[in-house]
Amino acid sequence: MTFQKLLRKGITTCTIALASAGLASAQKTVKISVLDNKPGAHISPSMWGVFFEDINFAADGGLYAELVKNRSFEFPMPMMGWDEKELNGADASLLVVNRSLANTSNPRYAVVTMKKNEGAFVLTNEGFRGMGLTKDESYNFSIMAHAVEGDVKIKVQAVNEKNEPIGEASLDAVKGGWNTYRTSFKCTATAAKGKLNVIFEGKGVVEIDMLSLFPQHTWKQRPNGLRADLVQKLADLHPGFVRFPGGCIVEGRELANRYQWKKTVGDIAERQLIMNRWNVEFSYRNAPDYYQSFGLGFFEYFQLCEDIGATALPILNCGMACQYNSAEVASLNQTDEYIQDALDLVEFANGSTSTKWGGLRASLGHPAPFNLKMVGIGNEQWGEQYLERYKLFAAAMKQKHPEIKLVASAGPGPDGDQFDYLTKVMRQEKANLIDEHYYRSPKWFLNNAARYDNYDRKVSKVFAGEYAAHIMDEDQKDTHAESHNTWWAALSEAAFMTGLERNADMVQLASYAPLLAHVDAWQWRPDLIWFNNLQSVATPNYYVQQLFSTNKGTRVIPALADGKVLAGQDSLYCSATVDSVNNRIIIKLINAAEQSKQISFDMTGKKSAFKQATWTKIATMNKLAFNSIDNPDVVKPVSQKMKWSNKQTVTIEPLSANVFVLPYR
Ligand code: AHR
Repeated sequence: MTFQKLLRKGITTCTIALASAGLASAQKTVKISVLDNKPGAHISPSMWGVFFEDINFAADGGLYAELVKNRSFEFPMPMMGWDEKELNGADASLLVVNRSLANTSNPRYAVVTMKKNEGAFVLTNEGFRGMGLTKDESYNFSIMAHAVEGDVKIKVQAVNEKNEPIGEASLDAVKGGWNTYRTSFKCTATAAKGKLNVIFEGKGVVEIDMLSLFPQHTWKQRPNGLRADLVQKLADLHPGFVRFPGGCIVEGRELANRYQWKKTVGDIAERQLIMNRWNVEFSYRNAPDYYQSFGLGFFEYFQLCEDIGATALPILNCGMACQYNSAEVASLNQTDEYIQDALDLVEFANGSTSTKWGGLRASLGHPAPFNLKMVGIGNEQWGEQYLERYKLFAAAMKQKHPEIKLVASAGPGPDGDQFDYLTKVMRQEKANLIDEHYYRSPKWFLNNAARYDNYDRKVSKVFAGEYAAHIMDEDQKDTHAESHNTWWAALSEAAFMTGLERNADMVQLASYAPLLAHVDAWQWRPDLIWFNNLQSVATPNYYVQQLFSTNKGTRVIPALADGKVLAGQDSLYCSATVDSVNNRIIIKLINAAEQSKQISFDMTGKKSAFKQATWTKIATMNKLAFNSIDNPDVVKPVSQKMKWSNKQTVTIEPLSANVFVLPYR
């Protein structure tokens, strides 16, 4: 069964039909007792995190702010993304040369020969579905070049969609020997799909490599940096952790195409490019120009986590390629390299600067440890072959780094034989966390809000590592890329998340997936944040995640209706927490019915006399509503202050997610 079929199998019962439950009870008052003096399970500070994978052009063409595609001619078609032109009588040629024996990680460069001193030779880069260029912003161009003979001058020019110049600059004369040359320019206009011209004039021969264009304004203004608006969206989620680098990308279609963190650190020119496995995964969403430059590599991932206050959760290849693709495995007596990569990663993140890998971290500008606490062994693996390899990894890691928590996979789905087998054996192995994935219908999410109320809590904790409510194409006719991120999907996730929160002793980490998607270059949807070359938009699902992550609390407290947890009765879902750091009680209440509901909150513990509350809600009667880049505010939270008494009645809107924050002294 294909990947896609499996996914669809799980969502064939997908529904966007009206939620009929609760019709009869529209008028009755539902009494919710909040036992605010009965703090239960501790909530992990890392509870709500994000899942980052380079899918949908999330890294190259997305978060990684490089604007030049195929900057080093390493795509299998070396001139993919580039166009060549002779202008005004120029007689020029370009030759791609491979020096793989001398340089395996950056084998190719190009030789430009200008045969006569007339006209110009222009190399144009199309960017990642165009280049986003902004009026009054400055851009840094750099190129590695070596003048072989004669005198060839290089200029750069940014152009808009009509090929009109909107920024230009010249480079210093290129000399003999490989050197990096830099220049910068300011754009005089904005272009969502601009291009870069690299213009050669004069007579002679010049060798070139690593042609790069970055906005000066990146996240924290770092060179080789990240797109500031996208990182800001992540920071605004206040994620407790970042899972990276995936996802299936960890596994690769075959082992040769797996993610190897050691090849992603250090000099960017030496980070060996490989195909992105999403390049060919879905024939209906082919992306032949999708490769991984690894400009965003493991050092940058750790730095990003630190910047936004999130714990790093790297997921490592365990000697298995994607089981939906080649299903290739490393022979059991050849897993040492994979295990050593895991051990070395801990040294890279946490080791003293006198160690080999800790020293590398220091040389990259970060002598202090990154404080890595957990790693995932394999992504979405399954079967006995996974267990065999997991055991080898776990033994080595436990021996050398017992302080590191290990995350084991429960396979691609949240139920069935594979899932039952894996959760059983991984508990026997005492895995610290088991990574459960659910890409299911909104109905599944609503029906599973009580999933963890009676879970086996003895050994391993749960990492809800990838989840998203999926609707079917036929249920949403709108053709916008963003249109599958409906309010109904987000609302069902909110309902489910009350169950995760209520069971925070058991579910210690949770992340929606995938995180980022380019509207013109996506392979998989829904996704949490959509972007084009200039802008980004938060989905309803994003706002739901944000409601939970910014209103977390420190311990769970009971919120009961008729003495039971509220997990779907009357289409209502509720969880409550106390935040003893900020002195507040937080109640989350989801109404999945199409009727408003009368609720009476009874603060039975009477921790204090509550006087006021902030009520934040997201509500719309249109289940298919979604936010798009052109229309970003269709579904978003609104907040209001209100008076609050220890017996408080409220009317909550149909199809709404509500958070009440009650400060106490
Ligand atoms: O999130 C998209 C994909 O879904 C991930 O790469 C994989 O782990 C899962 O199957």
